Amino acid sequence: MRKINRGFVYFFGALGGLLFGYDTGVISGAILFIKHDMALSAFSQGIVVSAILLGAIIGAAVIGSLSDKYGRKNMVLLSAVIFALGSVCSALAGNVIILTISRIVLGTAVGGASALVPLYLAEMAPAKYRGTLSTLNQLMITIGILSAYMVNLAFANYPYGWRIMLGFAALPAVVLFAGTLYLPESPRWLISKGLGDKAYEILKAVRVNTTPDKIEEEISEIKEANVKESGGFKDLLQKWVRSALVIGIGLAVFQQLIGINTVIYYAPTIFAEIGLKDISAILSTVGIGLLNVLVTVLALFVMDKIDRKKMLIIGSTGMAVSLVLLCIASQFPLANNDILGYITLAFLCVYIFFFALTWGPVMWIMISEVFPLKVRGLGAGISSVANWTANLAVALVFPFFFEKVGNLLFLFFAIMAVLSIFFIKYKVFETRGKSLEAIEMMLYNKSKIS
Ligand code: BGC
Repeated sequence: MRKINRGFVYFFGALGGLLFGYDTGVISGAILFIKHDMALSAFSQGIVVSAILLGAIIGAAVIGSLSDKYGRKNMVLLSAVIFALGSVCSALAGNVIILTISRIVLGTAVGGASALVPLYLAEMAPAKYRGTLSTLNQLMITIGILSAYMVNLAFANYPYGWRIMLGFAALPAVVLFAGTLYLPESPRWLISKGLGDKAYEILKAVRVNTTPDKIEEEISEIKEANVKESGGFKDLLQKWVRSALVIGIGLAVFQQLIGINTVIYYAPTIFAEIGLKDISAILSTVGIGLLNVLVTVLALFVMDKIDRKKMLIIGSTGMAVSLVLLCIASQFPLANNDILGYITLAFLCVYIFFFALTWGPVMWIMISEVFPLKVRGLGAGISSVANWTANLAVALVFPFFFEKVGNLLFLFFAIMAVLSIFFIKYKVFETRGKSLEAIEMMLYNKSKIS
């Protein structure tokens, strides 16, 4: 087999993340126009916004076992087809029912990609660079969100501009499909199917500066990890795997309960409520999207240098402090709403900084690291389901409570951030720099001791 360009593998391996980001972010702006064109009630608006999250729960629920069975690559190809079809159907939808169904279908690809992309990247990457390479997924998500904000801005004044906003995502979906055709299958998955020779070929082609001995060593480590157990729900509930399940689900739920998507999906609403003019609200949102991308780039550089647990604790602390300050600031009456708007923007920026540096990438990395190989797809899938379910819950109730208590609501997210610190301290174990097989061994031995 010829050498495979690693940049190509990691770029296309992560590209699904861009569609995840675009498709979830685009609705924040598009809904303002859809609601006029389709004369939607507040309730139907909520349904249209949340439809993708419902689909994502379904996609994340089925992708784990499908990808353990049919392979990571085939499932990325399937997701790309659904991404393209879902975007086109949403763009062409003639009524709210078709739009909602199309967004649910699209959501299945979003949920599928959310579990598959980090899994594939973690399985392709050498241990030393696993964190950095898996952060590419988060970088793609944030670029997707920013692109959506910018497309929203660009087409805001076009008649039926929302159709372009929604349909635009078909383009990267086609690119994803074409690129994935040339991606190698995950060697770890091939070994789990008894295709060790093929896995050897692929590892040889992607690990450019590695000796054949090292590759043999990696293969036998994977094989060793592979014979210990066989995949399925029963295995996921085995005593020694259970602590991985607690970590996966716990991290996934906390990532949403600290309130990130109230900012990502509702930033224009938050700013408009405070009294910023429309254009300032939209521009502030683009600013937040840009900061999200830039800080994720920074995360790429620190990810494999600082322990994951430490990163998460720093993130929770920073977010809790910025949210509390935001609540305090908004309790003082100000003569000018613009000032309150800018204070809110400043604290939200600090909040986004800490999220993008830590919880954004680290949660997705860790849910693809902590599970043993045979149930890795399933475990990462279940954790993603938990993430999307918590996301849906927060997205659905946020507008209601925000209308009632305004910025005070952020106090709830601050409390969740503080609780997450205890969870990380007492439940999560460190994975940085360890091979996936060593993590598995650690999990196994730990259960023997306890
Ligand atoms: C989260 C998404 C969020 C995004 C923001 C991801 O890690 O899972 O829910 O919208 O980060 O950058």
